[in-house]
Amino acid sequence: MSTAVYVSHDDLFNAASVRDARAVDDKIRELAPVVKLARENITVLGRYEHVAAGLRDWRTFSSTSRPWHDPKSVRPELLLTDDPPKHTRVRAAISAALSPQVLGKLAADFRVDADALVIAMKEKSGATIDAVAQITQAFVYKVLPDLLGIPAAGREHLYAFGNMVWATMGPMNELYEEAMRGTGPVIEWAGSCVERTNLAPGSLGMQMFLAADRGDITPDEAQLLIGILLSAAADTTVITLANAIRAFALFPEQYRLVRANRSLLRSAFEESLRWDSPSRMAGRIAMRDVEIEGVVIPQGERCGLMFAAANRDPRKWSEPERFDVERDHRGHLGWGYGVHACVGRILAGLEADALLGAIVEHIESFAPAGEPEPWMTTIGHGPAKLPVTFTAAA
Ligand code: HEM
Repeated sequence: MSTAVYVSHDDLFNAASVRDARAVDDKIRELAPVVKLARENITVLGRYEHVAAGLRDWRTFSSTSRPWHDPKSVRPELLLTDDPPKHTRVRAAISAALSPQVLGKLAADFRVDADALVIAMKEKSGATIDAVAQITQAFVYKVLPDLLGIPAAGREHLYAFGNMVWATMGPMNELYEEAMRGTGPVIEWAGSCVERTNLAPGSLGMQMFLAADRGDITPDEAQLLIGILLSAAADTTVITLANAIRAFALFPEQYRLVRANRSLLRSAFEESLRWDSPSRMAGRIAMRDVEIEGVVIPQGERCGLMFAAANRDPRKWSEPERFDVERDHRGHLGWGYGVHACVGRILAGLEADALLGAIVEHIESFAPAGEPEPWMTTIGHGPAKLPVTFTAAA
């Protein structure tokens, strides 16, 4: 006999909930394994075991439809919105361009950019800075557009474009309206970035067209993939790096550990992604009736698999609120899981090696200098501003 689903009337996506997203998502996870959000008419899973299983089982939890759909969406409808076999073909093309063999040679260039940024920052030692604007965004918004090969003019639209695309993944509420306001020039700019003639030879963007020339994907798919790279690669990385700095400020003994043992750098990056993930949930649709702990999610139900809540599930992680660079973070869901697991993970890791590597070398300590200002988007999560002070290394 099936159990009735737990129904929540909370609004998880209004401004107040977005400001308090960690607590809001944790509350849903603890209410029940399966929760129906009455306001959105969707079902969400927040416990690690079920989120991981759902992400792995793409036949049951398909990506071909999602909880919310804006018919005018600027979101590129490819890859994350497909299941195998279409997904497999397109994913192979983008994976090839983002492989360690192709990207590995960029590590040294990233480190040059990171060192220049952090060394220039040293003169602000002792002053309050915004670690997002002045460190993580400054770095990612430099290296990513260079790598993509898009023109220098108009790069200031990158943030607004990402913000729009993220907004289209959530409900069309007041935050959505805010993200969409006055974005005509942004859409025009994004359209120009995916034109072959505007891309630098040898760039990652151009690789997508070369894949089309080889017949691996179509020219339209090449354009959509560049749009995906523009939106998926920026804020996720900016926020995860910012969360690492926030954790260094809040857990100074962990920062000291990383400074003493640089081989912990990657673990620190992975742990920051587990500790506070920039994506709150993935949208999926149930392709069959599926039973979880006695509750039947009916076929056709739109679902949210809550990455961030699962990454703090105490059933899986001991003391989940603690940032611990020596924790066994394997299996965290910050990159997603299964066929859609992040294809940009290698690139993000190289960016982290460069920026966090420069930080541990040139900065002795961080301290919080006020509350972070949250990114006011529904499905994403993280600091939009992060006030910290720091002491430069001698
Ligand atoms: C720390 C930074 C990043 C985080 C936390 C992150 C997170 C994620 C997550 C959670 C997913 C799975 C979404 C789902 O299953 O619905 C995903 C997929 C994806 N990510 Fe990332 N990402 C990051 C960086 C990047 C970068 C740098 C790129 C591009 C170079 C990228 C491109 C993509 C793409 C194209 C997908 C869709 C993959 C597919 O559907 O097969 N991401 N990412």
